[in-house]
Amino acid sequence: MNEESIYGEYKENLQKILDNIVGRINDYTNEEYERSGRKLHEHLIARVKSDESMREKCVRRGIDQTPYSALHELTDSIGIRIVCSFIDDVYENVRLIKSFPNLEIVLEKDYIKHAKPNGYRSYHMIIKVKAPFEDVCGNTPGEYFVEIQLRTIAMDSWASLEHKMKYKKHIANSDLIVAELKRCADELAACDVSMQTIRNLIMNDN
Ligand code: GTP
Ligand code: MG
Repeated sequence: MNEESIYGEYKENLQKILDNIVGRINDYTNEEYERSGRKLHEHLIARVKSDESMREKCVRRGIDQTPYSALHELTDSIGIRIVCSFIDDVYENVRLIKSFPNLEIVLEKDYIKHAKPNGYRSYHMIIKVKAPFEDVCGNTPGEYFVEIQLRTIAMDSWASLEHKMKYKKHIANSDLIVAELKRCADELAACDVSMQTIRNLIMNDN
């Protein structure tokens, strides 16, 4: 059966917008690498949220499963995760992304300076980009939301393990597990700070 996408007629625009932003991120990353040899990210993941996940999120939020909900009420249909080697690289990416033309910052959450109580760390940005397509409100050029998450490799490894364990809610000793996960997050964060300090020492030596 060919069920209609929750994104309706706008679906095909999402991948194009994603490719455009990833292209711009790769452009400044390549320029910086050629200029200084510094790699601004270690890897990057880009995805259009699947129909299934988007429908599931609408149900969870108690909103209708419509293109308007998916593209205007929720803001993560288009998502990019930038994983960096060092904390400073995260903030350099944030600075460069903010300088893109035709971009508006809708929301920023610095869970690196202010970790979540469970230990989660990451820098989150919701941006709105102008694109030469109609949007769900009927405007052309259209405006589309994009969620960008930026983190270090250490933050990413923690988030990925914690995410896997979230699905195993029946496990015993859950208070202990929550506390241990938090301890691991804090230890990894301390390592990130040390690694940054070591890199600064090496760079200042040259
Ligand atoms: P949703 O969690 O997507 O419903 O949005 P929100 O309004 O709570 O925004 P928030 O910025 O807190 O989280 C957005 C995304 O960040 C999530 O979908 C996850 O990908 C990631 N995230 C946030 N908190 C955690 C966490 O505690 N653990 C893990 N593994 N990921 C998290
Ligand atoms: Mg959340």
